[in-house]
Amino acid sequence: MQTKLCMANARSIAQGAKWIRAGEVVAFPTETVYGLGADALNPIAVHKIFDAKGRPADNPLIVHIAEEEELPALVTAVPDMAKKLMKAYWPGPMTLIFPKSDDIPDIVSAGGETVGVRMPQSAVARALITQAGCPIAAPSANRSGSPSPTTAQRVLEDMNGRIPLILDGGESLVGVESTVIDVTGTVPIILRPGGITPEMVAQVCGEVQIDAHVMRPLEEGEAARSPGMKYKHYAPRASVIVFDGEAAAVQRAICARYDAAKQHGQAPMIFAPREHDYGTRTVYAWGSASHPEEAAAALFEALRQMDDEGADIILAEGVDKTGIGLAVMNRLGRAAGFQIERV
Ligand code: TXA
Ligand code: MG
Repeated sequence: MQTKLCMANARSIAQGAKWIRAGEVVAFPTETVYGLGADALNPIAVHKIFDAKGRPADNPLIVHIAEEEELPALVTAVPDMAKKLMKAYWPGPMTLIFPKSDDIPDIVSAGGETVGVRMPQSAVARALITQAGCPIAAPSANRSGSPSPTTAQRVLEDMNGRIPLILDGGESLVGVESTVIDVTGTVPIILRPGGITPEMVAQVCGEVQIDAHVMRPLEEGEAARSPGMKYKHYAPRASVIVFDGEAAAVQRAICARYDAAKQHGQAPMIFAPREHDYGTRTVYAWGSASHPEEAAAALFEALRQMDDEGADIILAEGVDKTGIGLAVMNRLGRAAGFQIERV
């Protein structure tokens, strides 16, 4: 199959909507990361997403809608806390987990009783959903296991020959995937941190829980509340080590590890804010330490770029786990297999 990469405009969006209606898979931009979309109500079309990604069948997909009126058909109940969150943060980088209606095919929910629904902010994404005339099931548009793509070019690298069309909407602004929140219980539970922070959820709901596996791996035999927690994720080819602690100590530890790696003939690279000085060592600088959202926006592209440049080891400065910093540390932690060195 030939893959076309088109600037997102009225014509290419109409073409994308046509492909979706025809049961094909189209990659499209959202404000978080690029998605790999198909008609959520067509199991054969959704199957093609799993094929293109090489995704395990037990990992459910998020269903994307353009308007709130599309929600009731997809779920059996909309709890009050969900209504509050939707009012505050939809459209935006937030996915809510609801009890699913019978309209949701088993392949979308991976056989489970719940479905994740998100209304993205991206105008291109919403135009595509509206014109397709159906909800769009979409995971991140990477091959399973690699970092999520934040540009159309990265989608092409992973999906060339596997899907007919990629809509190019420029760089994703948030850069990490949506916050996934379970709203089926009495308290909202964050299963995956993202652009909508725990603080923002608590502000609206009065309380919030963060699933323990956001910052640690599943133990042998432990059940995952969100299947995505089970899988190695966001991982570049290089091994990643995250350093967490007081800034000066972190920088000293990174320099020591960098120099030792060099002496062993390896190619280390550092992921750090630009104001931290690493002398002549190779640094991928992500912006300013006081703006963790810049780390989020840069992270996945940085991991891919450091791979392209042949890094063997990526030494990453940790960030404060408040605000969007929790999402950055979750993705860094997972890229590192949760090998976080406290210094
Ligand atoms: O920002 C995003 O969420 C992007 C864009 C394209 O919307 N999508 C995305 O999808 O990141 P994906 O499939 O790469 O990640 C979805 C995560 C997975 O970890 C999955 O296990 C979890 O959400 N998930 C999906 N449905 C779920 C459900 N019903 N219950 C629990 N977790 C669910
Ligand atoms: Mg993904």
